[in-house]
Amino acid sequence: MGPLDDRIVVVTGAGRGLGRAFAEACCDAGATVIVAEVDTETGSATAAALVEAGYRATFAYVDIASPDAVAALAAGVARDYGRVDGLVNNAALATGIGGSTFEEIDVETWDRVMAINTRGTWLVVRAFAGLLRRSPGGRIVNLASDTALWGAPRLLHYVASKGAIIAMTRALARELGDDGITVNAVAPGLVRVEATEYVPRERHALYETGRAIARAQYPEDVTGAVVFLLSQRAGFITGQVLPVNGGFVLN
Ligand SMILES: NC(=O)c1ccc[n+]([C@@H]2O[C@H](COP(=O)([O-])OP(=O)(O)OC[C@H]3O[C@@H](n4cnc5c(N)ncnc54)[C@H](O)[C@@H]3O)[C@@H](O)[C@H]2O)c1
Repeated sequence: MGPLDDRIVVVTGAGRGLGRAFAEACCDAGATVIVAEVDTETGSATAAALVEAGYRATFAYVDIASPDAVAALAAGVARDYGRVDGLVNNAALATGIGGSTFEEIDVETWDRVMAINTRGTWLVVRAFAGLLRRSPGGRIVNLASDTALWGAPRLLHYVASKGAIIAMTRALARELGDDGITVNAVAPGLVRVEATEYVPRERHALYETGRAIARAQYPEDVTGAVVFLLSQRAGFITGQVLPVNGGFVLN
């Protein structure tokens, strides 16, 4: 018996990094997982590896910046599964964009970050709301970031996009509460994944020495919180933001 037995879970951006770890943890907890990803290569490889490991997973293409692609993803899931029990909004532009001051960030990059991270999350929630309503207890988990909690410098577009995710989590919780759907966010700290290899050593050191648990953070440090928030046991928790960062930000 796993906490997500018989649950159908969609994880966006699950081709690599944290999303891939969430997909695997959900499978391991008993779920059938839809690996929704813009990168066909990593998305299909993730799904294939999960199937190879004996889990139930499929790859589905999506570009969350595109309303049409998001609608097509939801239509495909509706056709193949008929409902969704859990949605992990993990896809984001989360790499290669740090290091510029607020004065140096260009308008095009700002708009791209917002179009994917913030608008994309809204589009996905909007497209899947009907399928989540068909679940006996729908769950949405959004990926925020602790950068929005401590005000990380030289990353303003991303920080703003994740601050918006926190605000949207609270408002969506109220809009979806009557449908029995919970909406929560997890806010990881700086995680050691491909996406953060470009981050300067000093920024990694700031995190790794500044945590109450003073060490590097890995995807496995975050998966437990996501699986819990997707589970039946979390049914009366909604509108919350859970920092999962070894105690870098204490609130
Ligand atoms: N890594 C960290 O330190 C960290 C910390 C806090 C929060 N987060 C958040 O966790 C999530 C995953 O981050 P990660 O570090 O694994 O990053 P990542 O870049 O490795 O993963 C992001 C995934 O999303 C996919 N993606 C990007 N744009 C997409 C689009 N338009 N449509 C569909 N998929 C798209 C990418 O192809 C990739 O597979 C992000 O929301 C990120 O903001 C990461």
